[in-house]
Amino acid sequence: MQIEFVSPDAASASRSLLAIVVPEGEAGGVNGGAFAGAVAQSRFTGARGQVLEVASVLGRTLLVGGGKASEFDDLAAEQTAAAAYAAAKLSGAEVLRLSPAVDTGAFAARAALGLRLGAYRFDKYRTRETADKKPSIVRAEIVTDHAAAAAEAMPSLSALANAVVFARDLVSEPANILYPAEFARRVKALEALGLTVEILGEEEMRQLGMGSLLGVGQGSVRESQLAIIRWNGAADPAAQPVAFVGKGVCFDTGGISIKPADGMEDMKWDMGGAAAVAGVMHVLAGRKARVNAVGILGLVENMPDGNAQRPGDVVTSMSGQTIEVINTDAEGRLVLADAIWYCQDRFKPRFMVDLATLTGAVIISLGNDYGGLFSNSDDLSEKLLSASKAEEEPLWRLPLPKAYEKQIDSAIADMKNTGGRPAGSITAALFIQRFVNGLPWAHLDIASTAWKKPSSVPTIPEGATGFGVRLLNRLVADHYEESA
Ligand code: BES
Ligand code: MN
Ligand code: ZN
Repeated sequence: MQIEFVSPDAASASRSLLAIVVPEGEAGGVNGGAFAGAVAQSRFTGARGQVLEVASVLGRTLLVGGGKASEFDDLAAEQTAAAAYAAAKLSGAEVLRLSPAVDTGAFAARAALGLRLGAYRFDKYRTRETADKKPSIVRAEIVTDHAAAAAEAMPSLSALANAVVFARDLVSEPANILYPAEFARRVKALEALGLTVEILGEEEMRQLGMGSLLGVGQGSVRESQLAIIRWNGAADPAAQPVAFVGKGVCFDTGGISIKPADGMEDMKWDMGGAAAVAGVMHVLAGRKARVNAVGILGLVENMPDGNAQRPGDVVTSMSGQTIEVINTDAEGRLVLADAIWYCQDRFKPRFMVDLATLTGAVIISLGNDYGGLFSNSDDLSEKLLSASKAEEEPLWRLPLPKAYEKQIDSAIADMKNTGGRPAGSITAALFIQRFVNGLPWAHLDIASTAWKKPSSVPTIPEGATGFGVRLLNRLVADHYEESA
């Protein structure tokens, strides 16, 4: 979809559908009262998210509820634009002409972001879709008196949209296509944006002593990979970087502790953490953020096999700590243990945030609207929570009680990889914390938010969400970038 900013008096194209975002309580007065009758016959009040289609001499028009004018903000501009797109996409119209509730350049630009994200669709494997099932909108016109200001705000928002789409595509790909080496290739291609990407294979990881990560991939014919992505945007290329680490389990069968068949296909998106980290690096490079950043992806496939890791095996991690593998399905923490250690050992970052679709238990605790946040730092937690609010990627902080540590004590090794049913997300986080070596760290358990089915947020169509890209981009922009 092509998106442009047009002035209110620009002629509308034929086959265009007008969408007017209306502040709450003002619908009757829109266009000199042209829709007052239709509005009076409906329940449309202009509350955020409502849509009413009306026919008039102007042609078909969508009224989209914008909520209270005084509360109309960047997120409202995005969400209402995406809601208009959702209502228009199968209408047969080719052009969506959108008029935001409050006309500023910033809101017009945010509307464009909302359209990009709301129009996301993963359709590369559909070969027989008929035209009437496909979205008909090929172009959007955003009506504004501030086109120049809107255009000026676009480059960084386009970089963000590109990065979220990149992450969503990775998450949507099936595991026969996106295995560790293919994921690494797609990340390597990001060097075109100015990133530096190194890929380590199993032999190199063996030499580094990554027995914990390698044990997970041992049953797969696909080689495990570690991707190291760097962005040097600070004035001093040697300035301490910020760091992100992602769980990239390209498919999680559970291994020998195999999962039930029902729903196992979901485990193609067990690399959502790694996709989010790749997405963050993508946006930092795309908007040339003035910061040094590192992204580490632990890429493996967890399969049952004659050579697979067994329950009861003991592995030695790069940190030197030994782990008794009680359940081969608790593999994400085994991958992160080595990826995190490698990250801090080599880069000495200012802080580390890891993202992982780590536990089913976080879905039980928080449902599908919140990711779990765990951290050893109140300061980093506060910053993450405020970034999460600003970008509407909700997080909820959960505790790391010392008393629960005993749940992961092992009789024969330094720790075991499962802590039983109680507080499953917390004991997983406590496990990861044992590999954090005295720096601010946060762990985001995004098993709850990486995939939405159904979705209630118009900028996030059903499926891969790209959760984490926006909030970490905001974290960096608000707190860790040098001023221009
Ligand atoms: N990848 C899963 C967690 C998951 C579950 C992600 C549902 C997305 C949706 C993870 O590797 C896993 O299997 N965790 C186990 C841990 C248990 C064996 C301690 C779980 O949550 O059941
Ligand atoms: Mn698992
Ligand atoms: Zn997993």
